Amino acid sequence: MEVVQSIAQMREIRRQLALTPEATVGFVPTMGALHKGHGRLIQRALNTASLVVVSSFVNPLQFNDPRDLARYPRTPSQDHDICNKLGVNYFFEPPAEDIYPPGFLTTVNVSRLANRLEGASRPGHFRGVCTVVAKLFNIVQPHFAFFGHKDAQQLVLIRHMVRDLAFDIEIVGVPTERDKNGLALSSRNQLLDDEQRQKALCLNRALRRVHFLAKKQGITHCGELLQAVRSAINSAGEGVELDYAAIVSRTTLEDLSHIERGNTLVLVAARVGGIRLIDSTRL
Ligand code: PAJ
Repeated sequence: MEVVQSIAQMREIRRQLALTPEATVGFVPTMGALHKGHGRLIQRALNTASLVVVSSFVNPLQFNDPRDLARYPRTPSQDHDICNKLGVNYFFEPPAEDIYPPGFLTTVNVSRLANRLEGASRPGHFRGVCTVVAKLFNIVQPHFAFFGHKDAQQLVLIRHMVRDLAFDIEIVGVPTERDKNGLALSSRNQLLDDEQRQKALCLNRALRRVHFLAKKQGITHCGELLQAVRSAINSAGEGVELDYAAIVSRTTLEDLSHIERGNTLVLVAARVGGIRLIDSTRL
């Protein structure tokens, strides 16, 4: 595996790859602190494309809280080992001054979709995400790019951006990897102590409850389903604070009054001991 530390070097590699027309490039953008969820994306990329680029960049533009940015976990040498073992070809870790040189002005905003849900709780977050992903797409020029279902709104926005700006890239969504108790893997889980980790299971419990009510009991009314989500989160007790629960269309992210099979996303965000966690499921 080659570790690539500048845009110039990545561009040169991409130019060389273009000389082999049958090569396809798969791209997995990350913020590092890699876990098995990222591993699942990388595996999918390795099965889909002939060459795989993983990027690791803790993107300051998508953090609205400087404390959150400062405590975001960073494990570079472990990340190299993981990618090396999986068979990744290029590990791209650009310095911040390459991505945001002095005088950087241009941003990408998938306007209406960026202001809801996560965007309402974290103003400017998705402008940061879409800007860095667009820039990375321009540098890496992949055929395929892989994103987790876990960050469901992010995936909807990236698909929208790719369509609106005519990026010639196929976006592949990959199901959420969970631990044996059902907790969605996340770099932020490292910040939870044992008790908080136990309490954090309420997010997945809430989503499983919705699945049960919708699929087994035939409940389609979103108000009723959301009530079940709220009570599952609230029953986790002290230290758990619901941020939002929503049932929306997978294409427009608009609230639904009744679930539409195959086009419904259930999203939940909560703080557990001050650590913000999100989870989602499809119906
Ligand atoms: P990060 O949180 O590092 O996640 C990188 C990718 O891994 C995202 O597509 C995310 O949805 C996926 N992922 C995270 N946890 C997962 C899990 N448990 N199962 C499956 N996939 C999972 O998302 C970002 O970084 C950034 O916003 C980024 C897109 C890199 C832009 O900065």
